[in-house]
Amino acid sequence: MTSENTSMPQAQLGQDGPMIGAQGLGCMGMSEFYGETDTAESRLTLERAIELGISMFDTADMYGVGANEEFLAPFVSANRERITIATKFGYSRTPESPDDWSIDNRPDFIRAAVDRSLQRLGVDVIDLYYMHRRTDSVALEDSIGAMADLVKAGKVKWLGLSAVSAAELRAAHAIHPIAALQSEWSIFTRDIEQDVVPAAAELGVTVVPYSPLGRGMLTGRAFVTSLTNTDARQYFPRFSDENRAANMLLVAKIEDIASARGVSAAQIALAWLYAQSRKLKVKTVPIPGTRKRSRLLENVAAASMILTVPEMERLAPLASAVQGITV
Ligand SMILES: NC(=O)c1ccc[n+]([C@@H]2O[C@H](COP(=O)([O-])OP(=O)(O)OC[C@H]3O[C@@H](n4cnc5c(N)ncnc54)[C@H](OP(=O)(O)O)[C@@H]3O)[C@@H](O)[C@H]2O)c1
Repeated sequence: MTSENTSMPQAQLGQDGPMIGAQGLGCMGMSEFYGETDTAESRLTLERAIELGISMFDTADMYGVGANEEFLAPFVSANRERITIATKFGYSRTPESPDDWSIDNRPDFIRAAVDRSLQRLGVDVIDLYYMHRRTDSVALEDSIGAMADLVKAGKVKWLGLSAVSAAELRAAHAIHPIAALQSEWSIFTRDIEQDVVPAAAELGVTVVPYSPLGRGMLTGRAFVTSLTNTDARQYFPRFSDENRAANMLLVAKIEDIASARGVSAAQIALAWLYAQSRKLKVKTVPIPGTRKRSRLLENVAAASMILTVPEMERLAPLASAVQGITV
């Protein structure tokens, strides 16, 4: 499954958006959180992603407190018509207060945030603009109303929400069409299958699973032991010494399925998401994150892999056995 001859399946963004590659690229780790960064290799990774049919590139204003958007700017302007750039607002972090993790959904904040993102990305319009996190200290109607005004003003094309409930998704969609719902979804994290995915399917919202590789954990046991002390994941409960051994036994089951097929565990993790989204009849564009060209062909090839029923049955019980909350 790592042949160069990959033809990326397509998925529609929302109800009236474009057809885009059914796998996007998460760009967060290129600037922050996951240990050492490598700007030159990350730039080459962006270029290679386009060659392989990836069209949606995911960032947020808070990744590197603006640095990730700035890093993407030359790539975005060089490929403006070929890509869908997605960014997010909601965290109060700024270069002056990088530790301010409070959430702000006020209309004034949103209006200021979008202008900052437009400037950092060097674009006239953001394709997909997400509310990164919701706080109920601001009425949903006020926040979505402000986001809808950005569409009217031509600053944003489509709206998205991240990590909201099904009720919030429905309420927001009634105010303005929501094109995409971004939440954590993987073999190990399946909470959204209960209510959120069915709501998205019904409303025609595209689900964008984040951390589809379990922040790297689902790619194999070797990955977890390779984490350096500059990597934020060492502090995440699922990676803690206390939970690691139990979770590695579950990862070993994914590796067993992968080796029996002659593919990688990462491919099994991504193929599982496509299978699950077909079952739940929802449009899905996972955004695995990588800073390395060497991962891309492997990950993209998984978009065309079909898991068997016995393989899906072996993977089904893993989520309920995972130790440690996700962050
Ligand atoms: N909305 C939200 O709240 C939210 C939260 C988290 C993330 N996100 C978005 O979702 C994107 C993806 O999530 P994520 O980066 O947290 O986790 P992920 O995609 O589950 O995993 C990323 C990790 O897997 C490694 N990796 C990728 N492909 C691999 C492969 N084929 N083999 C081995 N290792 C591989 C990457 O390492 P290398 O870089 O070294 O390849 C990286 O450490 C982020 O970039 C971000 O855009 C959104």
